[in-house]
Amino acid sequence: MTHTDPAKVTMDLFPGSTIYESKREQIGAEAFVLRGFAQDYEADLIQAIANVTSNAPFRHMVTPGGFTMSVAMTNCGSYGWVSDRKGYRYSALDPVSQTPWPAMPASFLDLSRHAAAKAGFVTFASDACLVNCYEPGSRLSLHQDKDELDFDQPIVSVSLGVPAVFLFGGLSRKDKPERIPLFHGDVVVWGGADRLRYHGILPLKESHHPHFGKQRINLTFRKAV
Ligand code: SIN
Ligand code: FE2
Repeated sequence: MTHTDPAKVTMDLFPGSTIYESKREQIGAEAFVLRGFAQDYEADLIQAIANVTSNAPFRHMVTPGGFTMSVAMTNCGSYGWVSDRKGYRYSALDPVSQTPWPAMPASFLDLSRHAAAKAGFVTFASDACLVNCYEPGSRLSLHQDKDELDFDQPIVSVSLGVPAVFLFGGLSRKDKPERIPLFHGDVVVWGGADRLRYHGILPLKESHHPHFGKQRINLTFRKAV
């Protein structure tokens, strides 16, 4: 590279003050990857995920078409995203236990608020967190997140564990998606003009993370209601 990276210059001029700017990658008009943003929350997130999944264990949901999803899921917060033969929807109750989903851990709320704000969405208050667990081979085909009531609210998506390739497409299913590698601690935020872009995850490759082993955990924060 012969040109100077503008983010790097800013960092040199104001040491310590703009580190985060250098890690914010713009992937759309109102979409960003915040590299490593969740690293500072790691210990709290690990503890909170263990609490949530001991109360509402991961399960493989069935699509309306009758396919069992390869990604195992659970939820926390006031509402949880569920799928079964009747369709996709948000539910205040875990259909397995018929009790409310575990409360949203404080660290989840804090992280999702701060990440949204870094991407320009300063009023984000998530009431639903979908927790996805990927094993080698698990994938999530291209889809839009459109079961929420207010599309002015962004999506905040946290990656933990082994790396994955995020597909970030356009507003039409036919638009060729970009392939964005996501690593432990990365946070993707998309909203506004990008809120309804198609997205998905390529089949997870086998690799190893010191805490999560072969797994990838994704936390997807949304304002459902
Ligand atoms: C999702 O679209 O619900 C999850 C995306 C991801 O796992 O990164
Ligand atoms: Fe999604």
